[in-house]
Amino acid sequence: MRGAGEDGRLVFVSRHLPGDALDRLAKGAEVDLWEDDLPPPRAALLERTRGADGLVVMSTERVDAELLDACERLRVVATVSVGYDHVDVPELTARGIPFGNTPGVLTNATADITWALILAVARRVVEARDAVLEGKWVSWDPVFMLGKELAGAVIGIVGVGRIGEAVARRAAGFDMHVLGWSRSRREVPGVETVALDELLARSDVVSVNAALTAETHHLIGARELSLMKPDAILVNTARGPIVDQAALAEALGAHRIGGAGLDVTEVEPIPLDDPLLTLDNCVVLPHIGSATLVTRSRMARLAVDNVLAGLAGERLPNCVNPDVYA
Ligand code: DGY
Repeated sequence: MRGAGEDGRLVFVSRHLPGDALDRLAKGAEVDLWEDDLPPPRAALLERTRGADGLVVMSTERVDAELLDACERLRVVATVSVGYDHVDVPELTARGIPFGNTPGVLTNATADITWALILAVARRVVEARDAVLEGKWVSWDPVFMLGKELAGAVIGIVGVGRIGEAVARRAAGFDMHVLGWSRSRREVPGVETVALDELLARSDVVSVNAALTAETHHLIGARELSLMKPDAILVNTARGPIVDQAALAEALGAHRIGGAGLDVTEVEPIPLDDPLLTLDNCVVLPHIGSATLVTRSRMARLAVDNVLAGLAGERLPNCVNPDVYA
């Protein structure tokens, strides 16, 4: 797809975008769209982006020194995601290239999927559906598919940022007590701020909503899992590597915790032979936290606004590295 661009306004876009984002982009730039459903393989990405002035990438594309070396004309990078662990921000800043992400617009959708997983694991929704399909629903039975009551229980939110706060707001509707932990020790009304170990020990549900950084990599490992209650549920809708997945599989398999719900995994897509997929007490979704039409369209629009601002030499609406303007 090529739009009505001008010289110096070639933008590579690594996937089809929902809504009107590509049309908007084509009005102000020449668009080089990767048309496949799958992400560009690394070699193709390096080749196709060589002459680009702007990039619109997804969390599946690594933006690092090697890619930036290949893109000699690059003036702006935008990701269609709030998370940016796939982007070497210091490297972009050192080169004076502004970089934008899409915070805010996906908060509700991601908080909703967190609750979808909490409810699915607590009330054994996937197991119960499978039981129906397998003909195991033979009668109403007072002890069939007993799950976990949420009202009156404690939820601990690891990472009380925008999304963590939205998860907390929803918890109030379930009559739950909310604990929170952030590296910044951010205080939020209705959330009791505690140390991480205390949060893990007191919570019936632990929800991971932190960003992935060097400090949060494997933040939840064997030791942390061993602090959790034996029937507690762990949910991760942030980034897979925040949880040590091998330790989680072991804890779940040995019933040292009650269950887990994951929208993200250490390797994505999760390999089909991963032990987590054999466990009844674990529900895995394919990283769909922000996947509503409205939210994805807003994310795409914001990414396009970021890239168009960068091409025009204006401040990006959502700039991750404002130091470039210093
Ligand atoms: C985000 O926006 O970070 C989502 O997880 C998609 O990658």
